[in-house]
Amino acid sequence: MKNKIQGISDALTHLKATSADEIEALRIKYLSKKGLVSDLFNDFRNVPNEEKKEIGQLLNDLKNKAQDKINELKEAFDNAGSDEQKNDLTRTADPIALGTRHPLSLTKNEIIGIFSRIGFTVAEGPEIEDDWHVFGALNFPPEHPARDMQDTFFIEKNPDILLRTHTSSVQSRVMTSQKPPIRMLFPGRVYRNEAISYRAHCFFHQVEGLYIDKNVSFVDLKQSLLYFAKEMFGEGTKIRLRPSYFPFTEPSAEMDISCNICGGEGCPFCKHTGWVEILGCGMVDPNVLRNCGIDPGEYSGFAFGMGVERITNLKYQVKDLRMFSENDVRFLDQFTSAY
Ligand code: DAH
Repeated sequence: MKNKIQGISDALTHLKATSADEIEALRIKYLSKKGLVSDLFNDFRNVPNEEKKEIGQLLNDLKNKAQDKINELKEAFDNAGSDEQKNDLTRTADPIALGTRHPLSLTKNEIIGIFSRIGFTVAEGPEIEDDWHVFGALNFPPEHPARDMQDTFFIEKNPDILLRTHTSSVQSRVMTSQKPPIRMLFPGRVYRNEAISYRAHCFFHQVEGLYIDKNVSFVDLKQSLLYFAKEMFGEGTKIRLRPSYFPFTEPSAEMDISCNICGGEGCPFCKHTGWVEILGCGMVDPNVLRNCGIDPGEYSGFAFGMGVERITNLKYQVKDLRMFSENDVRFLDQFTSAY
């Protein structure tokens, strides 16, 4: 009896299994009613009385050992997991710190999104331009102050090559190379020779708009810009057009919106007027159309230009323009959006 117990005990020590079925088979072999351990319990009757205590103890130990061993095998098997469990494709991935879009890109994309819904497409032009596309074609008189060395960065002392001071330059390129109807936006970076401070920089961003077709009128301009203002700043936004002057538009206007920070009540941002200027606009001057090979007798159009930094400030109230170009992650991290 003792030898049998020892034999089974040794066999238990070395038990191995590689599948749930094998473990179940072992459980049946050792622990079921007709299993090896139960058989020994059945033989217990024949053990002489004086050995009963010792053998009884050994039998109980054996039964516990068998139970422990089967449990141990089950546990090891569960932890290893099947192939399917190891490659669980539904598990949440380790968190990755995602970047955010630059606030100026968010604003630019939002502007493009709004105008694309009324049929505007997007084009870009070069930042290094010639005098004709930035000034000449756009009806700037030769002595206009914008051409002055103080405002414009010229390249290699050649006054004909310069960094564009506005994205209106893309108007002249597009009108020269495409036939109307034209309904386009020109986003991009522009440069001006200014001292850098919290409210001015030597480069900034604009989005220019141009619409040329037959019978385009000031009403189209006004309604398009009103639609834009409401989409960008909310349904309750009002607009105000003030007469102004630009060489390339006639008539020209500057557009204000009701201050979206104080809702038109008056605050430091709108200098307590309730209005903030957001863009310049007007009907494209017939001289400009002619300069670009479009017949002003047949076509008319409107144009507008806005500063992306200004619109971004109205949305997010960034106090210092320089933050847009410093790439401080603590600043950039704060902008998340669908755009
Ligand atoms: N180019 C002007 C600027 O940089 C903005 C502008 C005003 C653009 C009127 C236009 C416009 O297209 O019609 O200040």
